[in-house]
Order: sequence, then C-alpha cells, then structure tokens
Amino acid sequence: MSLKLAKAVVARHVARQVPRPGRVLILALFLFNAVYFAFYRLIDSDVSSFSVNFTNEKSVIELLGFNSSHSAEFKKVVKSKFRRVEKDKDRFWLANTELTEVDIKVPVQKFLKSYEGEDSWSNVNELYYDPRFTLSMYLNQIRTEYLKMKPAQIRQLDINNFKNPIKLPFNWADWMDVSILNSELKKPLDERINCEFLSENTNNNPDPSYFCTDNQDFPEEKIKQLGFKHREQLPGVIIHGHSSHDDRSYSDIRVFEARAYALTHLPKPYRVIILNGGEKGGTYEFDVDMESNQRLLNSPFIDNYLSSNGIDVKQVTNETVLTLNHLTEFQKLKQNIIPKYLPPTDEGYRMYKSIRKQSDPTASRELEIPAELFSYSQSIIDEQMEFYKSRPAGSLSIQYQSYYNSLIDCAQHTDTDEPTYFKMATIRIDDERNRDREWGWHYDWRFFDGALNYKREGWTRDDLNQRTNIILDRLLRNWNRFAEEKGIITWIMHGPLLSWYWDGLMFPFDVDIDIQMPVVELARLARDYNQTLVVEDPTEGYGKFLIDVGTYIHNRGISTKGNHIDARFVDVDSGIYIDITAVSKSAAVLPDEYEKKFALAQIEKKPEGQEAEVEVYNDRRKHFYKLDQLSPLKYSMMGGVPVYIPSTIHDRLVFEYSRGLTRYEFGGWYFIKMLNLWVKLENLVHVFENEDIYDAELQYDKRKILNCVLKMTEEDVIKLLDIDEVLVEYYLTKDLTDLHQFEMEFLFDAEGKDSTILKTDEERRKIYNQLTATFKITKKPLRKSLYDFSTIERLKHAPTYKPPAVPDLQVQM
Ligand SMILES: *[C@@H]1O[C@H](CO)[C@@H](O)[C@H](O)[C@H]1NC(C)=O
Ligand SMILES: *[C@@H]1O[C@H](CO)[C@@H](O)[C@H](O)[C@H]1NC(C)=O
Ligand SMILES: *[C@@H]1O[C@H](CO)[C@@H](O)[C@H](O)[C@H]1NC(C)=O
Ligand SMILES: *[C@@H]1O[C@H](CO)[C@@H](O)[C@H](O)[C@H]1NC(C)=O
Repeated sequence: MSLKLAKAVVARHVARQVPRPGRVLILALFLFNAVYFAFYRLIDSDVSSFSVNFTNEKSVIELLGFNSSHSAEFKKVVKSKFRRVEKDKDRFWLANTELTEVDIKVPVQKFLKSYEGEDSWSNVNELYYDPRFTLSMYLNQIRTEYLKMKPAQIRQLDINNFKNPIKLPFNWADWMDVSILNSELKKPLDERINCEFLSENTNNNPDPSYFCTDNQDFPEEKIKQLGFKHREQLPGVIIHGHSSHDDRSYSDIRVFEARAYALTHLPKPYRVIILNGGEKGGTYEFDVDMESNQRLLNSPFIDNYLSSNGIDVKQVTNETVLTLNHLTEFQKLKQNIIPKYLPPTDEGYRMYKSIRKQSDPTASRELEIPAELFSYSQSIIDEQMEFYKSRPAGSLSIQYQSYYNSLIDCAQHTDTDEPTYFKMATIRIDDERNRDREWGWHYDWRFFDGALNYKREGWTRDDLNQRTNIILDRLLRNWNRFAEEKGIITWIMHGPLLSWYWDGLMFPFDVDIDIQMPVVELARLARDYNQTLVVEDPTEGYGKFLIDVGTYIHNRGISTKGNHIDARFVDVDSGIYIDITAVSKSAAVLPDEYEKKFALAQIEKKPEGQEAEVEVYNDRRKHFYKLDQLSPLKYSMMGGVPVYIPSTIHDRLVFEYSRGLTRYEFGGWYFIKMLNLWVKLENLVHVFENEDIYDAELQYDKRKILNCVLKMTEEDVIKLLDIDEVLVEYYLTKDLTDLHQFEMEFLFDAEGKDSTILKTDEERRKIYNQLTATFKITKKPLRKSLYDFSTIERLKHAPTYKPPAVPDLQVQM
C-alpha cells in the first residue's frame, strides 16, 4: 500500500472510530506506529522477565563483557570503603535515598470543619504546610471517592472503567510550601511588606501597581471568594502578576512574591496525576474542580479521613493527636483501586507498550521516528481549528478549550510579534548574597525558591550543591516516568547530551535539562497534558511538577520574542525545569554557522520556497537537524533513568561546544576519569602538594591542576575517596558510570567519534541489544527527596541540631 493510500485509509478509519480532537495528530501517530511496528517485534510480557543470573556475583555488564581497568588492589579498597558507607548510616546519611520520617503527628482538632475555636486553622493567620499531610488526605480521599462509585463488594476498582476521573478541590497552599510567609503573617497588617517596599527594592523602582496591590486595597468579597475569613490571613501585598524581567528584585523578595501570588492568583492546574512506580506502574488521577478554592484545612477531607479510620469526629478534643503516614494511605489506595494505564485508544499507547512491554532481550530498543511527525503545516492547524469550531458550544473540556484558544491566539501572531510566554524570576546582581552574580533566567518566577548558589541562612555551599543535584535528579526521573507512562517520545539534547557523553550523569554545575520532541508529539502533549500537575510516586518523595506548554507552539519559525522553548516541566518546589523544545519543518533560514562549520553540522538547506532535498527540522532558536541525525533514537541511561539519545552525537556536540568534549575543567570542577566524576577544586586540593598546584603568586593555577588531574594515580584517587562527599558520590554513581562506560564502547570508536560497528558487526549488535534491554529506571532514586533533605535530614545532621518539639499529648491512633 502506498503511503498516500495508507494515509487516506487511516484518516477515514480514525474519523469513524475516534470522534476526538486532533485527528491530524492521530493520523501522524498512526503512521508512526505503523512504521515502528513493522520494524520491531513486540512480545506482550513484562520487561522484567529478562533477568541475568547473579549467582556468581557478577553485574549484568560484567556478564556481557565489561572489564574495568582498575587494578585488583584498587577494587578491593573501593569495596571496603563502600562497605563502610553502608554500615555507618549516620555519617554517610546522604547515601540513603529512601524516605525517612514518614510518620507525622498532627493535633487534628484545629483542622476540623466543625471546630470554631480561636486556634482553628481557619481563624489563625499562619499557614500550615506539610506534604505528608497533603498526600495522606488526598490519597485517602481518592480511594474513598472511587469506592463510592461502585458497590462495596467489588474489592478492586479499575480506574480505566470510569469514563471521567473524579473531581477534587485544589488549592496551591496545600501543594506548595507557603508557610515561609508565616513570619510576615505574624506581624500586624501595617507592619508588613507593602507594594512600596517591593518597589524600593526593585532595581528600577517601578510603579508596582501592575503586579502588586496593597492588602487594604483588595476588595473584601474577593478575600472571602479565595477561601479566607479575614484580610490579616493574607500578606501585606496581593501579588497579581509578574514583576517584569526588567524590574528585578532580590532573590528572597522574588521568593516572597511567588508565594504570595500562589495564595491568591496562581491559576490552578487542570488535572493532577500521581505516579505509581514499582513493577506495576500506572497513575492515579483526578480532575481539579475549577470552581472551588477549598483548602485542605477545614475541608470535608479531614472529617472523611477520620471516619474512614473509624474515628468519631465528635470525640476529637484539643488533646487528640493523629499519626499520619502517607505510605500507609498509598498502600491502601493501591490495594483497593487498580491504577490507570494508558488505554489502547490513546495515541501514545503503542509507544507505551513498546517501552514498557518489550521483553525480547535481543530485540533492538532503537526507535525510528517517521518524517511525518516533524510536519506541522498550515493545513494541519486549519484542520484542528475546524474540528474545535464544529463542536457544540460549551461541550469542550477545559483542556481542549484551552488548546483551542491557543490555536486561535496563535493565528493572530507571527514568529516576530507573538508575546513572550514564559516568565522568569530575574534577580539583582548588585547583591553580595548572589554569589554567582546570576540574573535568574533559569527559574520560573511562580515557583522560585531562591537562586541555586544564593546565600541561605543555615546552609553550607555543599548543602546547596546537594540541593541542585537533587532537583536535577528528581526532574529527570519524574519526567521519564511520566513520559513513558503516557507514551511520549523525547530525547536529550544540548547540555545533558554533553554531560551524558562524559559519564552518563548530569553535570553538577549546569542546571539546564534540555529535551526535544517531534512537533506532533508536542501538540499532543499540549492538548492532553497542558497544566497537568505530575506528583512523584509517594514512596519516593514529595515532588510536584507542572507541565506548561506555551501558547505559540503552532508557529514554527525562529521566534524573535524569546519563545525559543516550547514547553516546560517545572519543579513546583524550586522553579527549576526541563526545557522542552519541538523540532519541525519550517521556512526558517539556516544560520551562517552551519555553512562555516559544514564539516561538523552536515546540513544544507535551500533558500525559502525551494523544495529541500532532505528533510531539515529546526527548533525556534537556531538548531537544525536532518532526520537521520536524530533517528533512529537510541535507548540509553542517564543517572539511573532511561533516556533516548539522538542517532548521531560526536560531531554535533563539537559543533555546539567546540571544546566541550576535551575540556577536563569547568567552573572549578575537574573530571576524574578513574571515578567518572566531576570533583570540586575544594576537594581535589587535599590530594596534591601545594607546589604542584600553586602559581608564583600562591594562587591556584588551573593549568597545573589539570596536569595533576590527568596524571592521577590509583593511590591519589584513593586519597580522594577519603573525603566523605566524594566517596558517597562514587558509591551512588559507580554502577551507573560503569554501565555508561561499557555502553560507550559500542557507540563510539577509540577517538570518541560515532562508531559504525553496530551496523556491521552482528555479534556486537546482539550484545548491545542485550545491554539496552536491561535499561530500566533504578529501584531507588539516585538522590534524596528534596523535602527530606531540606527540612528534615540536613538539619538533623547539622552540628547544632536540636530535635523539634513533638506535641506531648495523648496519641489516639
Ligand atoms: C544460574 O546459575 C546457576 C549456576 O551457574 C545455575 O545452576 C542456575 O540454573 C542459573 N539460573 C538461571 C535462572 O539461569
Ligand atoms: C581485563 O583487563 C585486564 C587489564 O586491565 C586484563 O589483564 C584481563 O585479561 C582482562 N580480562 C578480560 C576477561 O578481558
Ligand atoms: C485542652 O483544653 C483544656 C480545657 O479547655 C485545657 O485545660 C488544656 O490545657 C488544653 N490542652 C491543650 C494541649 O491545649
Ligand atoms: C497551556 O495552558 C496555558 C494556561 O491556561 C495557556 O495559556 C496556553 O495557551 C496553553 N497552551 C496550549 C498550547 O494550549
């Protein structure tokens, strides 16, 4: 069947069977799947059925032929050091990435709907936040709501059998740490921060009315609408918009603005998706009730929680302390309710199946992307518009309505006059505490929680480094889990691809996570998941991530207004994000550098209007690719998380970062080949003699240090491992970097260039396929959970630690 014919048949089939929007997208995906499935054999069973025999204590990669270059002596020392890490849990606490302290004790009366006392949470000014509390309540609520929908004798409910997910109230105050506002809320209203104060601290001293209203000027009825009883419960200012990129404030003021905004004006997500990791996978989801501003406190959730746990609300006194454990609640939910799995009618289904269900250990995990997925012509846009227009008024879900609005809005604008979509927490650089003198372009202003290396009360620099590593690890891990669960194909590019090349981990000094996808996938992401809050598997942590897709994604030329990034996966607890860009065909003109560095980029494009011989795709900034430079994607691992990487790598990285592959130092971090890790100068200097690394002025000499680093012996490296921080890092990453090193032997030649051996050597191909068949997300996250680290463990292990006062009351349950 010719492609054209196939298209027509599929189109008719889809039109009949699937009365849903985005038919065009379905069409493209359909073709994609057809190609994909012709290529790969699929076996319908679980990946985990491929297990390697561990009886001889060899790792998977050793069994497949990996031979580390370390001496036997070195290996022995490392082994004994690792054993110490495992034994001395207190000293090496960072090596344990499981949740600790999951039980919380809550004096529950203050939360009750029926309780009117002065100390009721609905009466006091202070805000309460604990993610363990939020999760416990929501998980219980989800379970009971679903159980209500079916007769009680059915023990396990299959969410896939319900057409519409349940609808629950949502308030950002329960999902974001707004309690840092408490120091303000404790003060009398007239002593609190006001708009004038914000203006005085902003570099341009702007008229602040465009983003700020003083509390006393905020209408009484709006306060009630927002679910508050009186105005003292709100900060001195109502932040109703973004203080523009030019009007920059101090980091801590930006944090304050973000939290204040969250209380009153931050739009709610449309849907919440709770990830379920483990062997089973799946998700628990609910739609957000857009009409309600109900916060958890004094909501029926609490009463419901008590009654589902056999506690009579009338018996609750000021002495009743509830012990909550969100893991118990999650367990109960899982026992009663089967999570949602991607239904076979979803366009991402086959993709999902191919990743999650492929079990043949010798089958290739590579993924061919058909050219159709990169094509987003005007006719596709028109067809989508027609579709939504033809729907009866009011029949579109909030998601589809929003997507339709973006199509309409986008049609009013071109690449050169569309408004900038994403807004950042730009901060002042004339600030001592801003150690890196950074401008704040890497943080979503709405969720900003301070610049990464900004001075924080009670935090060491190592703490801040750790925090950065945690944020990056959890972003990638949760994105991957979400994307695989929903069958969304993305691959890493730019910075992360470069850091992957070095050691299969993320750089500890770069906060950019860039991923790309074909434009048709992006449109699907927008239509089905825009404004979705993705909640981390509750057994792994308390992360929350917002999917935010820009309005102007339907324009595909170079954006002159800074819409270079199409979508973001934003960490709600820090404002750090994954940048998502789509690539597609467009009329964009190839920048000069492609001609200058043709040998590396290998891309030519005929001027506009002339049909190009090869498909050339671009993002909205300056990156251009040919199909075969991206496809087939290869399946790989980064930091314990499966990722796709493009088909060609070396030359493109050299094109983008001319010295990126050879430079062993970056911003004070040095690459230690023997450990496959970047190590900070502060840690390295303990290993070398002063005269070897100082210059004549007794300053560190980068060239001399590099020289030492490149000549390091095993003995030197063992000395380096005497530093706890380095040892823990090596302990956490060694298996992952070994695996990466082994994988590199298949993908690159001795000079580090893309190798062709997999195309010619069947034996190597077979081993490589076996290797990639083992790529699965690690059972435990690489790093601690952010909340655990920041609010619990970091304090517990600080020298000045004092345990918090636990309510000394009678415990009822
Ligand atoms: C694992 O290896 C042992 C010893 O070589 C062998 O007896 C056993 O059958 C193997 N198990 C599997 C599942 O292959
Ligand atoms: C592993 O490498 C060492 C040298 O590092 C070599 O002596 C040994 O023979 C190798 N083993 C295998 C199985 O290739
Ligand atoms: C509880 O209320 C009683 C009587 O109103 C009071 O005596 C007692 O101190 C209260 N306990 C706490 C922990 O507030
Ligand atoms: C995503 O949602 C936001 C917020 O409602 C909206 O402004 C934007 O246009 C949406 N993007 C798309 C592509 O629908």
